[in-house]
Amino acid sequence: MRGLLPLLLLALSACARPSAAPALTLATSAVGREGALVQAQLARFEAAHPGLRVELRSTPDEADTRHQLFVHWLNAHASEPDVLQLDVIWTPEFAAAGWILPLDRFEPEAGAFLPAAVEANTWRGQLFALPWFVDVGMLYWRTDLAARPPDDLATLAAEAAQPGPPSGFVWQGARYEGLVTVFLEHLGGFGGRILDDGGRVVVDREPAVRALEYMRDSIHVQRAVPADVLSWQEEHARFAFQNGSARFMRNWPYAVPLLSDPAQSKVAGRFGVAPMPAAPGGTSTAALGGSQLAINARSDQPELAYALIQFLVAPAQMIERAQVAGQYPSRPSLYDDAAIRAALAIPAVEARAIVERAVARPATPVYSELSSILQVHLHRALTRQAEPRAALGTAAVEMRALLSRSGLDAEGGW
Ligand code: GLC
Repeated sequence: MRGLLPLLLLALSACARPSAAPALTLATSAVGREGALVQAQLARFEAAHPGLRVELRSTPDEADTRHQLFVHWLNAHASEPDVLQLDVIWTPEFAAAGWILPLDRFEPEAGAFLPAAVEANTWRGQLFALPWFVDVGMLYWRTDLAARPPDDLATLAAEAAQPGPPSGFVWQGARYEGLVTVFLEHLGGFGGRILDDGGRVVVDREPAVRALEYMRDSIHVQRAVPADVLSWQEEHARFAFQNGSARFMRNWPYAVPLLSDPAQSKVAGRFGVAPMPAAPGGTSTAALGGSQLAINARSDQPELAYALIQFLVAPAQMIERAQVAGQYPSRPSLYDDAAIRAALAIPAVEARAIVERAVARPATPVYSELSSILQVHLHRALTRQAEPRAALGTAAVEMRALLSRSGLDAEGGW
């Protein structure tokens, strides 16, 4: 009987789906206002395609858990979900594994999207996903407590260390992908990089050590960053800033409309958004994040799947996304649109400049493994289990070994 149970469940779920109407499945995240927004947009898509239903498969908020779930589905050669919301760092991995379809046969208008996002979705000369929205890491600050955001990282830590409430600079410090993006912004702020232009690991160089020391000391020495962040993701940081306990926050743009809503936010009308500051000699850096839409290579209905993607990345849906969910368009031309200018928390020209300068994470099929190595060692340094120099040294050794094992080191190129 036990052996029959999975089959029975499968049969029941098949019965639950009316066989007449074809259904497309879309796997997405639902952080902040994304869930309600995508539901509303899908209803419009269905209205324009009578007889077609789109089923939403919502997925975990946390990037690495979502990645695992997708790998699980795709590795099992499931034909669903038809359309997948990919993090900007996953496309090379999924493309190299043959899990997603090259989109060239649909003749996508790649030139209409942000070049860095198109590049991140291109593998071996073919485009595998279309950019849905762009994320950039930004500094949230309290306009009722200061006339302007801090000019550099040292001032940020000094102001954050002042007693409160509100007090402290909160960010995503749990051992997961978010920590890598926060580190990347501090790293750029000190003039460092993860890989150089030739694809060689340089994350153990002096600027990286100084960036990690700054992050560690701002927690344990200056007490500018609460140690709680070491288990926090995006939403934890947002709640702390929103309830008025934190003075500064690093987060993606999705937080803007939520923080602006007086029904749930104590800081509505009292916060601003600015580029992350840098240290002297470094560069103000935003990590390039965001989501892409790709087609499962085993989908039974790739044409319909592409029609759905085209609809979701069309200007009208992107403008609505910026208005409702605060997420930045991946089409540069939209930054000239009046509706976008009204929707963004900072002048659209500035937003576009930040987006265009945003720093991508390495585009390689082994990105997830590279990132896991970095996550472990960054977190060890931040929790004082290792010195930053030693932690980054070990991370670099492991990262180089991984790249050479996979044939993707320096000359292997990507
Ligand atoms: C956001 C970004 C994504 C990043 C993740 C880290 O979802 O869009 O690119 O990897 O946060 O938590």
